[in-house]
Amino acid sequence: MLVKTYGSAIMGVSARTITVEISVEVGVNIFMVGLPDSAVKESHHRIDTALKSVGYHIPGKKIVINLAPADIRKEGAAYDLTLAVGILGASQQIKSEEISKYIIMGELSLDGTINPVKGMLPIAIQAKKEGFTGLIIPMENAREAAIVEGITVYGVNNISEVIHFFNEKQKLQRVIINTREEFFSRVNNYEYDFTDVKGQENIKRALEIAAAGGHNVILIGPPGSGKTMLAKRLPSILPPLNLYEALETTKIHSVAGKLGKNSALVTVRPFRSPHHTISDAGLVGGGTFPQPGEISLAHNGVLFLDELPEFKRSALEVMRQPMEDRMVTISRARQTINFPASFMLVAAMNPCPCGYYNHPTQACTCGAGVVQKYLNRISGPLLDRIDLHVEVVPVPFRELSTAKNGESSKTIRERVVIAREIQQKRFYTIKSTHCNAQMSTRQLHEYCRTDEASNSMLKNAMEKLNLSARAYDRILKVSRTIADLEQSEDIRPEHVAEAIQFRSLDRETWGT
Ligand SMILES: Nc1ncnc2c1ncn2[C@@H]1O[C@H](COP(=O)(O)OP(=O)(O)OP(=O)(O)O)[C@@H](O)[C@H]1O
Ligand SMILES: [Mg+2]
Repeated sequence: MLVKTYGSAIMGVSARTITVEISVEVGVNIFMVGLPDSAVKESHHRIDTALKSVGYHIPGKKIVINLAPADIRKEGAAYDLTLAVGILGASQQIKSEEISKYIIMGELSLDGTINPVKGMLPIAIQAKKEGFTGLIIPMENAREAAIVEGITVYGVNNISEVIHFFNEKQKLQRVIINTREEFFSRVNNYEYDFTDVKGQENIKRALEIAAAGGHNVILIGPPGSGKTMLAKRLPSILPPLNLYEALETTKIHSVAGKLGKNSALVTVRPFRSPHHTISDAGLVGGGTFPQPGEISLAHNGVLFLDELPEFKRSALEVMRQPMEDRMVTISRARQTINFPASFMLVAAMNPCPCGYYNHPTQACTCGAGVVQKYLNRISGPLLDRIDLHVEVVPVPFRELSTAKNGESSKTIRERVVIAREIQQKRFYTIKSTHCNAQMSTRQLHEYCRTDEASNSMLKNAMEKLNLSARAYDRILKVSRTIADLEQSEDIRPEHVAEAIQFRSLDRETWGT
């Protein structure tokens, strides 16, 4: 008898339905065709034992399994359940009429338990598009699939539940999520809040500017000055995700299998902080079966690179293109895959190897030229993409214990949102630009006109502080954001004056 079951293959952040045709005939042996990888080929061993443990079996006949379309590689153990149900149907151990109405997926343990698989959200989206009645999938993935409305999602823990369902002996529990409620009830649920940071008003201001204009930032300061603490709180002052962005980010986390048990939707902006020993592929994505990297997991959120000079140069170099395109392209012989990667970069570094260069009270013990050399470990082109350089000076202990709590993230966020709305209007007709940080040189000239007074101030500063030419554009962009925060149409001298402070690493005197 011939039976069709359906699974799904992940390509990038989308899914393609895989048809599994199974025929059980007179004869012996199992034949599997249609580009299965070794994990799929081996699946019949798992399936056989799992079925036996719940009182069923793979029949001792000739079983032909065809996975279509043949040009897509089928990977991993996620098709175990698809194949098992197909074999049971084709050998008439279960009723087969309803089988083809569902996408059925899951990895089997030898005792029949169903383990989670990756990418359930894109799979559910595709299943709905193609008009399937529902999905029968691992319980741990059910909530993630159930945010797609208009398709039935059954979460199962054991293959016996699936068998009883098709044999009409047991109903399955439908998993239902009210996506909007789930989203809006958690949209600003941040773990960390700026109110915990005492003092550091100027740095909070810098981060507010960064958030308002979408500018990349680098925090430079001695150990223990609070760099990590400050960076962790940046997502909490960014404008809240909208539902569309939340879905986009959730898709990437779903494909990477990083959604966390029983979670449904990424509702807050992600904060990713990879260790500096991370591989190039880990950072930007890749691998034999292309997986999203940290820069894609940080999509619509913040990528924090702590101890920036310790990162491998090659890893930082491969980030350049994706930062420009806000997307990573991974090419393989059979396919080219895109992962979105639109993130704000926050980097942190000690100013020098000993950590105390420019420290107000402690002396730096680094030799001549060492500070400059330390800075040179960061790739120039990457530094070029960072608009704000912020020096972090530790708050003295006395103040830490007495100072009042600072402004809450919510209050800061409200100002950021207003500044972003101004930018949205400004760039309404421009497809590739959403915030000031993304302005091209041409847009810069159009939107960042300065008056006579601002111009001469800028000129003075460039000469006096020995700023390099690349600093000029950055200062203009940041001035634009500062003006937006004040809801001022014109860029005024005080806006430029504030922006000039954020170019420490461009000063030719840095490190001498
Ligand atoms: N302004 C502050 N308000 C409250 N706590 C602070 C402040 N600055 C530092 N701390 C405390 O000091 C701890 C150390 O800060 P943090 O780890 O962020 O420093 P760092 O600059 O990242 O240091 P390192 O260079 O060692 O990574 C924080 O966890 C926090 O408890
Ligand atoms: Mg730190």
